[in-house]
Amino acid sequence: MPVFNLWLIFSLSFIVTAIKERNLYAALASLHFSDRIDTILYTEIVMQEKQKIILLGLGKVGREVIRQLNSCALPLEVCALADSTASVVGDPLDIQLIKTSIHAKSQGDSLATLTDAQPLQILSNYFRNGTIIVDTSAAHDLDWDLALQKGCKLVFANKNAHAAAWEQAAYLYNQPGIRYESTVGAGLPVIASLRSQLASADKITRIEGVMSGTLGYLCSQLEAGVSYSQAVKKAYEAGYTEPDPRDDLSGFDVLRKALILARTAGWPLEERDFTVEPLYDNRLVGMPVSEFFSLTTFLDEIYAQQVEAAAKEGRVLRYLAGITPQGGRIDLQAVKRSSQLGALQGPGNYFAIHSQCYSPIPLVIAGPGAGIEVTANGVLNDIIALLS
Ligand SMILES: NC(=O)c1ccc[n+]([C@@H]2O[C@H](COP(=O)([O-])OP(=O)(O)OC[C@H]3O[C@@H](n4cnc5c(N)ncnc54)[C@H](OP(=O)(O)O)[C@@H]3O)[C@@H](O)[C@H]2O)c1
Repeated sequence: MPVFNLWLIFSLSFIVTAIKERNLYAALASLHFSDRIDTILYTEIVMQEKQKIILLGLGKVGREVIRQLNSCALPLEVCALADSTASVVGDPLDIQLIKTSIHAKSQGDSLATLTDAQPLQILSNYFRNGTIIVDTSAAHDLDWDLALQKGCKLVFANKNAHAAAWEQAAYLYNQPGIRYESTVGAGLPVIASLRSQLASADKITRIEGVMSGTLGYLCSQLEAGVSYSQAVKKAYEAGYTEPDPRDDLSGFDVLRKALILARTAGWPLEERDFTVEPLYDNRLVGMPVSEFFSLTTFLDEIYAQQVEAAAKEGRVLRYLAGITPQGGRIDLQAVKRSSQLGALQGPGNYFAIHSQCYSPIPLVIAGPGAGIEVTANGVLNDIIALLS
């Protein structure tokens, strides 16, 4: 057979294999296009294969997610960003506009002040099959029905949707296209561990631990002799608290995490199934955050006495959550300083998952449970999991 025909047969079979394997660039490149055409085709093909991302919420976590996304070479492109006032959109979103938006938000300006701002309603035009919507907002009222109908995948750092009444939240659990690891324990693989235990037919019986990095940090600061009011302020300034620190101090944030863990474990509990001890006083309810900070000093003495009483018995204060299929309890307890819980420092979280397999010694997951970088990293891991 002439050499030319052999080359043709080889080339055609290579092209067919490459196309079958969806490696279109290799197929086209094998036809010896000029370098310039190669580059254009490569760009177009890779662009076609990139998955789109919509990011809701450009606060501390949202901006860090963009920063981390930018430093990974993932087949993704941002097509929309939004805060509570407006969105910026594009297909893909112009890099310069992303930078301008991040800059505006880090200066405390809203997206609505940008000349390219669009109403939030326009976002639904970008809901397409496979688009990943990332909720790093603090919104309470987002409706995910349309996004799911259009085939979008969802990643949550925002706990509100999963912690809503079970009737409204149930559809967000046990769906392969929905991930919410960062809602509990920041980047620690707590949800993933529960899910894999359940997938292997292990039966979870009890979950307990320290689930608030903020309150863990607060307890460590109190133990070190820092006053309650100063400790709360330091936690806020370090980015450990919710936008309103009372969401942490009320125990409400731990309650939301406990609900999410319980529901992931297969127990459809409601808020009323928990007893919760708040770490602040009724007199601090209902005022702006700035005013709240200036009034917390009257609690300094009360907490200093509790720390002292615990220390006399070789104990330290920890804000604990215990969850069973029937309900839960969330409160401040004095634990032995020498125990694993007593050894926790700063924003460290500790989750003990008791199950049929993990008994009497539970499966323990511990590590940093708050902080912007680890939370954003948990979000990024969820995004990556949805790419595969
Ligand atoms: N910080 C942590 O360590 C941590 C850990 C785990 C989970 N989370 C969760 O992650 C989320 C973000 O936390 P963060 O610390 O980044 O809070 P943040 O700095 O206050 O940012 C919240 C963002 O959400 C936006 N937003 C509020 N309502 C919205 C709506 N309806 N539509 C679109 N955007 C809306 C806000 O817009 P404006 O700027 O216009 O107000 C802001 O950009 C929260 O739900 C929090 O509970 C945080």
